[in-house]
Amino acid sequence: MSSALISGKEIGQEIRNELAERINTLKNQDIIPGLAVILVGNNSASKTYVSNKQKTCEALGMHSRLLSFESDLSEDELVEAIHSLNNDPKIHGILVQLPLPKQITESKVLAAISPDKDVDGFHPINVGKMMLGQETFLPCTPYGVMKLLEYSGIEIAGKHAVVIGRSHIVGKPMGQLLLQKDATVTYAHSKTPNLKEITLQADILVVAVGRTKMITSDYVKEGAVVIDVGMNRDENNRLCGDVDFESVKDKASFITPVPGGVGPMTITMLMANTVQSAENELR
Ligand code: GUN
Repeated sequence: MSSALISGKEIGQEIRNELAERINTLKNQDIIPGLAVILVGNNSASKTYVSNKQKTCEALGMHSRLLSFESDLSEDELVEAIHSLNNDPKIHGILVQLPLPKQITESKVLAAISPDKDVDGFHPINVGKMMLGQETFLPCTPYGVMKLLEYSGIEIAGKHAVVIGRSHIVGKPMGQLLLQKDATVTYAHSKTPNLKEITLQADILVVAVGRTKMITSDYVKEGAVVIDVGMNRDENNRLCGDVDFESVKDKASFITPVPGGVGPMTITMLMANTVQSAENELR
């Protein structure tokens, strides 16, 4: 079987075109959606992510503000900066780029962001709302994966979805969102002893482990939908995922490439959450 490629590049563009119309409608009401991104320290991957977020904001005609701090910033100073953004009417979304330096407790910082501006969907109140299936900001990467499945016309109800990975950012919310669409969900992770036995049962396999090309065709059921959340560098320093694309592509029915799969969706859904937050102002 040869698989169909799920292009996050194309689906992301389609969603951003829809967002551009909503942004125009907001502008006619004198509202420009604004995103503040906080970067602490010098992590080069984080710098790239942050710069891509800013560029996407600008391309959509949104307001973007970068707050860049030295790595020795104190937790109190960071919380103070967040409080000032919470009270800034030009800012509809606040994102603190993770990871943070050791002296700063991530949970404390994330809880300082106003739940109404928490476009990452990481605040405990918003995590709770997501678990309850209530309307809230959904974490951008799993939200993006749900959009990839939706725009590709992939049925979720009744399917066995296996999620490899249990991070707060991707794995845990990913399983929840699939469950809410009536999938039977299994979580696998680094302590799962019989991983292959489990992944071979997956109709939908979402891989978010951070291990280069770990998932080869012998982990995949014929006709499965394979979503690769990984973002790694191979031995030739080329971007690649957690799935061995060449090995899996003839076995899956649908597969996401890296780059150009899940990656562009994460940023797009961040923009979608920020636009939603601006629209909430009109409620
Ligand atoms: N670092 C890696 N992924 C993410 C993300 O989705 N949000 C934030 N804030 N930081 C990240």
